[in-house]
Amino acid sequence: MSDKKIIIAIDGYSSSGKSTMARRLAAEIGYRYIDSGAMYRAVTLYALEHDMIDAEGNIDLEALRTALPSISIDFRPMPDGTQHTLLDGRDVETEIRQLRVSDNVSPIAAVKEVRAALTDMQRTLGRDKGIVMDGRDIGTTVFPQAELKIFVNASAEMRARRRFIEMSDKGEPVNYEEVLANVVRRDHIDETREESPLRRADDAIDLDNSNMTIDEQNAWLDKQYKRVINGE
Ligand code: CDP
Repeated sequence: MSDKKIIIAIDGYSSSGKSTMARRLAAEIGYRYIDSGAMYRAVTLYALEHDMIDAEGNIDLEALRTALPSISIDFRPMPDGTQHTLLDGRDVETEIRQLRVSDNVSPIAAVKEVRAALTDMQRTLGRDKGIVMDGRDIGTTVFPQAELKIFVNASAEMRARRRFIEMSDKGEPVNYEEVLANVVRRDHIDETREESPLRRADDAIDLDNSNMTIDEQNAWLDKQYKRVINGE
């Protein structure tokens, strides 16, 4: 381990395994891990619970903008080393991963004021460096100065399969076609939105993990970290 603290930005497509590798690296090197997607999911859950999204998916922008400054999002470290997302002090980790949130999160994440508020929070969290953050715009907008930037991709089918297995294991009744449709739809919204679209930073290192095991991708990431820390 090194005394030098850096910012590590891991961006990429939905369900590409970013969080798994980001969380593991952070634990390994004693950094804080922040799942920025969980923050967008928490705001989405808030909007759903406060009837700010109708059955057609239309967002009551005025109500959302008014509520934003008072929404509090936090993370609570768990004994097993993971962390849970708190919305106004309530543990919402399970709810934010459900399909009803996944189905509405990308339109919410495209709202300019939502992005501005969460970007501010994310920058505050990274003030002292020593952080691994994953998301869509971490290396481009949140921390363009990050010392290590990774851009992860894998085929949509592979990503949907992984997400399907993950949700089935948790006991959520889902079907593969539905999950694939959600992955493809979110990719499209994330890539084409006006505010901070999902885009590879020019100085990011690409990782296509379609055919990699978790151990292989962890080893790959360790190597990238060591290279930056050793100034290579
Ligand atoms: O877990 P998964 O990879 O499916 O997505 P996530 O990281 O939980 O992010 C959920 C959604 O939040 C994404 O589809 C994006 O629409 C949005 N998001 C974003 O716009 N910017 C970020 N930095 C992180 C997430």
